[in-house]
Amino acid sequence: MAFTIAIDGPAAAGKGTISKAVAQHFGFAHLDTGLLYRAVGRRMLDGIPALDAARALMAQDLDADDLRTPDVAQAASKVAVMPQVRAELIDFQRAFARRAGGAVLDGRDIGTVICPEAEAKLFVTASAEVRAQRRFDELCAAGVKTDYDRVLADVRERDARDMGRADAPLRPAADAVRIDTSGLDIAAAVAQAITAVTLAQGKG
Ligand code: DC
Repeated sequence: MAFTIAIDGPAAAGKGTISKAVAQHFGFAHLDTGLLYRAVGRRMLDGIPALDAARALMAQDLDADDLRTPDVAQAASKVAVMPQVRAELIDFQRAFARRAGGAVLDGRDIGTVICPEAEAKLFVTASAEVRAQRRFDELCAAGVKTDYDRVLADVRERDARDMGRADAPLRPAADAVRIDTSGLDIAAAVAQAITAVTLAQGKG
């Protein structure tokens, strides 16, 4: 039976970690929809027009190489402003959401645009400073040379673009359960998410 869990929120709020853990807990498939925009953004940095890149992506397997860098994240946020690019990626996401056996999708517009009928919706957030610190620590651990202020400016720039765009802006669905991870460790955030989904299952 199909059961969709929509998980939205800004960059580095903990969506990815929570989504993976929730998918594993319920035995559902997981789609990180940011990877779709990152793959298009990556190709745009190589000079391929964004819409061509989105069409080509939907015709092939997703190759996740080299998509975790800050410049690809910014490029993803830029191509994500384009309504035609977003439109190319909709059918794939909706089909994934309704697959038998259940699905977790995480992104920016899952609960509002891609799957407004999702059985469970979460909005995962944290302060910009906390998110920048987490991203900074990740980059340092990966051996990338950067400084905290630059990462914070990057987080803020991406937030402003993702929340300010006309088409499918980042915002919580009216019926989403909000989880603020600023003061939570991973285990506590995951536990809150699992509780919220279990409650939603009970209502179904
Ligand atoms: O989740 P992420 O950081 O990998 O996403 C990269 C960018 O892709 C993000 O800044 C905005 C865009 N995005 C989007 O517009 N809609 C989604 N559902 C997922 C990502």
